[in-house]
Amino acid sequence: MTEERALSGKGREAERAFEATLRPRRLADYIGQDKLKDNLQIVIEAAKARKEALDHLLFYGPPGLGKTTISNVIAAEMGVHIRVTSGPAIERAGDLVAILTNLKKEDILFIDEIHRLNRTIEEVLYPAMEDFAVDLITGKGPSAQSIHLRLPKFTIVGATTRLALLTAPLRDRFGAVFRLEFYDQKAMELIVTRSAGILRVEIDAEGASEIARRSRGTPRVANRLLKRVRDYAQVRADGKITKLVAAEALFRLDVDELGLDDGDRRVLSAIIDKFDGGPVGIETIAASTSEEVDAVMDVYEPYLLQLGFIVRTPRGRVVTQQAYDHLGKKPSLRARERLGLLEEQPPQATLWGTATEEEA
Ligand SMILES: Nc1ncnc2c1ncn2[C@@H]1O[C@H](COP(=O)(O)OP(=O)(O)OP(=O)(O)O)[C@@H](O)[C@H]1O
Ligand SMILES: [Mg+2]
Repeated sequence: MTEERALSGKGREAERAFEATLRPRRLADYIGQDKLKDNLQIVIEAAKARKEALDHLLFYGPPGLGKTTISNVIAAEMGVHIRVTSGPAIERAGDLVAILTNLKKEDILFIDEIHRLNRTIEEVLYPAMEDFAVDLITGKGPSAQSIHLRLPKFTIVGATTRLALLTAPLRDRFGAVFRLEFYDQKAMELIVTRSAGILRVEIDAEGASEIARRSRGTPRVANRLLKRVRDYAQVRADGKITKLVAAEALFRLDVDELGLDDGDRRVLSAIIDKFDGGPVGIETIAASTSEEVDAVMDVYEPYLLQLGFIVRTPRGRVVTQQAYDHLGKKPSLRARERLGLLEEQPPQATLWGTATEEEA
């Protein structure tokens, strides 16, 4: 299900080449995330002035917001090599040692999905990050020897969608931790316009605005929707993307004005219809919508939280009044009580009907 979603922030294999052509290379082309860019600029300039490797940096945030992109931009700005790997790709401690010993001074090692590194490998990483050294054991039994290998001063750049899954010791070894935010409408419009320029698609400001608004603050989604709208414009219009063309194409993709699609609506409806608006745990939501827990946590939930459609409570997720309104559903008496509405609206208020009607 998730694989076919136009709105999933998650990247796909086949998308790689397409994404590569649209990926900003330098900080000046990296749109939005102003606070992050300001902070980075300082870190980069300081390291360059001292002619030292950058501090280890960690980026976290939902998929498709630009963690991989910013990591590559940093390497370009520093003028250093970037070696790319990922948590699940490093299977044995020896794999990591081989990568580390091949790094040159000031090189960047980018570890994607760093929360998926296994613990024994993490333990090799700790001294490497802290002291720029690894201890190797060669041979077995009584003849085993420990070798202390010094490494050049390099930089680890980690990326994760799940900061909470990182162990504290690993997290503590990063000099700076940056959170990527959903992009605002203006930044999203710039991203759509920039990508359209690269793809040589004709688009007007209103067309760009329409795609931007429905891309859930996520550049990857914007680029994907732009591609789909481009196809539609080519086949059904004269190739130019206007507001109307964008709206029609997105309607066909089942993407609503807020960028929600069928999957999001199913998640919200499940919480409302099956669990009376919550609170309900994430695993239960996933099971009742036949979605993977990862998809619910990484893709659906962050944006629904951002919209204020759900809130997290210690007992689970709760749907808010805005979500009921958006879906055109009415909260039950119990759900209203929980939403705190009854304090403002006495239960006998005709607006809500009678309690007996509701509970029937
Ligand atoms: N600030 C930006 N300005 C313009 N385009 C961007 C920006 N950030 C990301 N993009 C576009 O969005 C696409 C996805 O970004 P990227 O691959 O960096 O996301 P990610 O956070 O690494 O996602 P994942 O968690 O899935 O690895 C890129 O191909 C790029 O074209
Ligand atoms: Mg990435």
